[in-house]
Amino acid sequence: MLTSSEELSFLDQLRPDPIVLVPTMGALHSGHLELVKEAEKYGKVVVSIFVNPTQFAPNEDFDSYPRTLESDLDLLSGFDVAAVFSPPVSEMYADGVVTTVQPGGRADCLCGADRPGHYSGVLTVVAKLFNMTKADYAVFGRKDAQQCLVIDQMVSDLKMPIKLIDIPTVREVGGLAMSSRNRYLDKEQHTRAQVVFSSLQKAKSMLESGCRSAKEIEEAVVSELAVCDSIEYAEVLSVPELEKNEIIEGRCLLAVAVKVGSARLIDNISLLVENDKVTEIPLLGV
Ligand code: PAF
Repeated sequence: MLTSSEELSFLDQLRPDPIVLVPTMGALHSGHLELVKEAEKYGKVVVSIFVNPTQFAPNEDFDSYPRTLESDLDLLSGFDVAAVFSPPVSEMYADGVVTTVQPGGRADCLCGADRPGHYSGVLTVVAKLFNMTKADYAVFGRKDAQQCLVIDQMVSDLKMPIKLIDIPTVREVGGLAMSSRNRYLDKEQHTRAQVVFSSLQKAKSMLESGCRSAKEIEEAVVSELAVCDSIEYAEVLSVPELEKNEIIEGRCLLAVAVKVGSARLIDNISLLVENDKVTEIPLLGV
């Protein structure tokens, strides 16, 4: 395990193979392991584990966010991982370091609207990780769709020499998207949380039946989600801009965020709506 910039010089020994970064905040689950499996196809895999303080607002769960380094390392030992980078906060945010990366408009809606400063925190740490590891590829989960699109814009705008890959959301048997925050759910909440996936499936089947009204679809999703303790958003937006259109056409994202108990859960599906065809598609590299 590597913990400092100096130790990262170890990665030079992996050349000329490409370096493939899987950025995580730890508390690894099967979703992360799918990222690692995908990463193995592109080169030498480096997994970063860092609970990034700057992407949490003061009222959020930074202090209680699960930190399970030992079991994370155990899980990763079953894969072809060349290095795990798990720096202390002082390595990433030394005293006197003040420069940040500010996102563009893709960060203004969805989670960005509810969590001011969140995507600046994400971009700042992701930019540092890209620079420190000199990665050629980075693999992200499509569950964090807005994160994927905001990072994609940073990479393109700042001409970062890295290729991004997004992989489909990994789901439990009932459809609930794998998330480190699922461990906050008790049994009853866990059952209720499955409505998040079924609400997206409902929206998809409305599209498949020919409905193109964003308002009708959003209303149907909200009424499905009524069993959640609160709904932060349920929206259909264009991809990659993340803008609202009354009529759904082309690439779009159906995205929801809810609270069940203390767990904030997000989920989405990324679709191409063309004439009468509705197809699930990747977010990046399309
Ligand atoms: O998706 C996450 O786990 C985090 O937002 C990331 C990309 C590792 C940055 O801290």
